[in-house]
Amino acid sequence: MYFAKPYPVNTTTIPRLMAGLLIAGAAASLPAPARAQRSPQREPAACRSCHQAIVDSYEKTAHLHTSAEPTAGTILGQFSPGHNVLRTRVPGVYFVMQRRADGFYETSVDSARHDRRSARIGLVVGSGRRGQTYLYWSNGQLFEMPVSYLTPAHAWINSPGYQDGQIDWARPIIPRCLECHSTSFTLVDRGGRPEYLRSYVLGISCAKCHGDGRAHVKYHTAHPGDSTGQDIVNPARLVRERQLDNCALCHSGDRPRRGPAFAYQVGEPLDSYLLPSGGGDLVPDVHGNQVGLLERSKCFRASPTLTCSTCHDVHQTQRDVVWFAGKCVGCHDTSHHPEARRIGTRLVPDCIACHMPNRASHALQFNARARQVPLDFRSHEIGIYRDVTEAVLRGGAGGGPR
Ligand code: HEC
Ligand code: HEC
Ligand code: HEC
Ligand code: HEC
Ligand code: HEC
Ligand code: HEC
Ligand code: HEC
Repeated sequence: MYFAKPYPVNTTTIPRLMAGLLIAGAAASLPAPARAQRSPQREPAACRSCHQAIVDSYEKTAHLHTSAEPTAGTILGQFSPGHNVLRTRVPGVYFVMQRRADGFYETSVDSARHDRRSARIGLVVGSGRRGQTYLYWSNGQLFEMPVSYLTPAHAWINSPGYQDGQIDWARPIIPRCLECHSTSFTLVDRGGRPEYLRSYVLGISCAKCHGDGRAHVKYHTAHPGDSTGQDIVNPARLVRERQLDNCALCHSGDRPRRGPAFAYQVGEPLDSYLLPSGGGDLVPDVHGNQVGLLERSKCFRASPTLTCSTCHDVHQTQRDVVWFAGKCVGCHDTSHHPEARRIGTRLVPDCIACHMPNRASHALQFNARARQVPLDFRSHEIGIYRDVTEAVLRGGAGGGPR
């Protein structure tokens, strides 16, 4: 999993030789990439004329901002002196983050070896609710940068899974990473060597869940009187398994690939593209398996229509746990809740805290400063957690909205 161990590098798509490319030559700046060619009209904009409210709210979501071009606005880490150095436990090994005329750079320094290496940030991954990781281009390949950013600590950190005090510029970005964190990338074979083209679409766009919308736009532009949506997938009309698959593409954790990357289309069975998850290690975490956890809960097993959309409207940012409790009350009459007397007026505000508890991340490994910051992830295994209940009743596990 992403934060637990290094990305699986040894895939069929990216040969290991990439690792060797960078190591040559100390003090070398990596080649500057050509400017990305973006599609002239980003997709949400193409939908705005007829779905303005959805597009306006969708444009604020973490999905849309989960990958971006590097700018002063999209990179959360600070470049000002006093805030732009990440020290490690090895004296003399540190990283400097700089804003230069042509972009934003990370530089690693190993003083003892007189080694200094820089690369320009090429892409930003993560909307930054919890953090961001940065990628750099080299000969059509993307690599992970050694320094990431952790939002709750407001600090640069060793990229997740990297050893504190070691310098590693050689971790290629496998397609699966971009499949979950973008709309599309195109991979081409250059004489046995895979390269990403620059015609990518960053952020998760409408197409990822609705399919290609061009025919739909064309039809409705030509037939303004037709009020039934044509040539577009509405996931609400799919059977439950296919609805879940649409989210499971990215929300069922680390699953081995069976079909090609970026090929899955909403409505298809996901098992043709990814092997089923082992199902063993279902713990909530940053690259956790919300689908698998939800499927284990009684609510899911006993309600044939319960899906992610029962609670989530992905076109909006939803952070209010009291609002979510309203979804539970839609199915559960809590007037005879077995613990009602002990819980009192906290029944609704703490509903989510007791039955979908936050769990501390096990996967994150940091440098010392960032280790002080607890990172929690919501369990989607809705159930009875007596230890959590006692902590909530003592006021320990934090009830209300985060
Ligand atoms: C020219 C107007 C127009 C544009 C542009 C447009 N739509 Fe629609 N769309 C409609 C109409 C009309 C409907 C049917 C009424 C409704 O559900 O709002 C619809 C319905 C939908 C539905 C529901 C379909 C169903 O079966 O329930 C989805 C999903 C959708 N549009 C997505 C999109 C996406 C994604 C885009 C951008 C790629 C887009 N639309 C652009 C007019 C448009
Ligand atoms: C299987 C799909 C998947 C893969 C593969 C994946 N991610 Fe993620 N990633 C997610 C999801 C889903 C979240 C949000 C989880 C949550 O909030 O509970 C996330 C969260 C993150 C975050 C935190 C974002 C924030 O705003 O707080 C970062 C950074 C990140 N991923 C980077 C990466 C990088 C870099 C790779 C590959 C090298 C990668 N991820 C691979 C699905 C994936
Ligand atoms: C992460 C997946 C996802 C993305 C991205 C997404 N949608 Fe949806 N959309 C859904 C789901 C799921 C439904 C069905 C909701 C339900 O079950 O009621 C839906 C329903 C709709 C509908 C039907 C009417 C309605 O209000 O429910 C429209 C229109 C729509 N989406 C437009 C868009 C547009 C435009 C974008 C891009 C700006 C977009 N969607 C992005 C998942 C997505
Ligand atoms: C293409 C991959 C992808 C698909 C498909 C997808 N998600 Fe996500 N989702 C992500 C990633 C990546 C993040 C983390 C975004 C970030 O913060 O950088 C995320 C974040 C979220 C969040 C947290 C958002 C927040 O602001 O706290 C929710 C909730 C969510 N997804 C629900 C869904 C649901 C429901 C579906 C299916 C209708 C779905 N997602 C489909 C990749 C995906
Ligand atoms: C679509 C309807 C639906 C929704 C929404 C729903 N549940 Fe349930 N839930 C059920 C059903 C049905 C059962 C099984 C009842 C039974 O077996 O008697 C259940 C069981 C439970 C149980 C008993 C679990 C156990 O292991 O014994 C708890 C606790 C629970 N739900 C809490 C919640 C909470 C909290 C929420 C909101 C986060 C929620 N439910 C949302 C339908 C739902
Ligand atoms: C019964 C209601 C319910 C259902 C069903 C549900 N969720 Fe959630 N989800 C929540 C609540 C409550 C939160 C916590 C919101 C918060 O704390 O801001 C949440 C948070 C999330 C997050 C952010 C988690 C984190 O800790 O960062 C993701 C990702 C997510 N849900 C994905 C999904 C997916 C995918 C599905 C379908 C498999 C799903 N959810 C089904 C209620 C639900
Ligand atoms: C302070 C923690 C806490 C809060 C708040 C809380 N519950 Fe519970 N809930 C529990 C515990 C503990 C049990 C098991 C009680 C028992 O079996 O003796 C339980 C049992 C349940 C059950 C299954 C038992 C039954 O027959 O009703 C459901 C359903 C349920 N809760 C739903 C909810 C919903 C919905 C909310 C919020 C709207 C909520 N609970 C708020 C702790 C809590």
